[in-house]
Amino acid sequence: PAIHDNPDIDIASPRLQPSDHHLVYPSTTSTTKPVSFQQPTPLLTFSYDQSRTLSFTDSALRYYVDPPHGAELRYGYERWIKRPEEKGRIDGLLKAISRVKQKMEDSGGGGSEWLRGIGIVSWRGVMTKILTAPYEDRDGWEMNVMQVDGTLYLEEHVSDAKLIEKEDMKPHHRLQSYYGYSFEAWSTSSRPDRMEALPGHPSGWGGDVNTSVQWCSVVKTKLGDTRMVIGGEVDCVRDKFSGQTTSFVELKTSLVIRGPQDEARFEKKLLKFYFQSFLLGVPIVVGFRTPSGQLTTVQSFKTIQIPRLVRGKPGAWDPTVCLDWGDRFLRFLRSVIQGSPSTAEDDKGRVWRAKFNPRAGVTVSLLDETGVSEVVAGEDRVGFLPRWYWDELRR
Ligand code: A3P
Ligand code: MG
Ligand code: MG
Repeated sequence: PAIHDNPDIDIASPRLQPSDHHLVYPSTTSTTKPVSFQQPTPLLTFSYDQSRTLSFTDSALRYYVDPPHGAELRYGYERWIKRPEEKGRIDGLLKAISRVKQKMEDSGGGGSEWLRGIGIVSWRGVMTKILTAPYEDRDGWEMNVMQVDGTLYLEEHVSDAKLIEKEDMKPHHRLQSYYGYSFEAWSTSSRPDRMEALPGHPSGWGGDVNTSVQWCSVVKTKLGDTRMVIGGEVDCVRDKFSGQTTSFVELKTSLVIRGPQDEARFEKKLLKFYFQSFLLGVPIVVGFRTPSGQLTTVQSFKTIQIPRLVRGKPGAWDPTVCLDWGDRFLRFLRSVIQGSPSTAEDDKGRVWRAKFNPRAGVTVSLLDETGVSEVVAGEDRVGFLPRWYWDELRR
């Protein structure tokens, strides 16, 4: 019932069906037996260039360098080339998976069998949303889910209305968002261990920001009994790129901590920093800034040590609660989808919609035709999977 009361959730389309399945929200008390999470191992990396073209190269790879003291994060704001908001399609990740499979086939086969053993395929952002849900009391989310050959594909569902809302960012928010990217520019270089020296720019500026450019890593890992392939952006690496996730760095900005209230706020934020980084096995560097965007201090965090920092504090959270919930959520999804009677329609790609409502829980329902065509959005897709990928699986 709470679903209908929550103004954050768009329930207009598709409508909830009588056949909806509900998973009640967890309590945030510790569980007895922690669910295991396997150290991620990298499968491959790829880059998006300035025109958002994907290539299996490290062209967008950047190296960590200490940012100049007192750097102005506002620098270059006028020249920011902002990637338009998108629907968060899974296509890039599928290209990577297709390539991993192909490589396996080339070296003796087994690619398709390997993929059949993978329970979940998703972008890192989707998994972060799932895992941090037990402590999320504001923002709901929706995702599209498909199952092919026993693998669940998850994709964030962003309605057209939500997309327009995201694109229409308030100037103040836009600037704050830019601070995060600017910190990346100040803290990275195109070569290891050497600050960028670009003519016409202050020393240490890594180059004007174009948020289409991204370097991504695809890893495999395992939550409980579920094997997963997860892809996500990696901001930069330390020293030389070893191919291992241990040299990766996630950059974050946060307001300087001036008192207990700021501290509690920061500790709450650490939950998202933690899971975002944990999923790819990446350590974090936080740049603390003043409200007007001047960098004050920089602090490194070893990801696995973060939970210890917040334990027993006012803004405390417990990662075992999140892992337990994540495991239950995934098993719930699987049981709903696998328990639903199959029909001839299966071959056409059924899409499920999972909706999360803070303080209520998750609802999973099968999309009707209208719902599916909204997801396909007139593109050449089967459900939300691009047709080329679907055909490849069906070959
Ligand atoms: P911070 O990292 O300082 O928050 P990421 O940290 O994931 O690499 O993202 C880089 C920056 O993108 C963030 O900097 C933030 O400024 C911006 N950003 C990420 N997600 C955002 C969102 N949902 N809304 C607005 N800005 C966002
Ligand atoms: Mg990033
Ligand atoms: Mg970052």
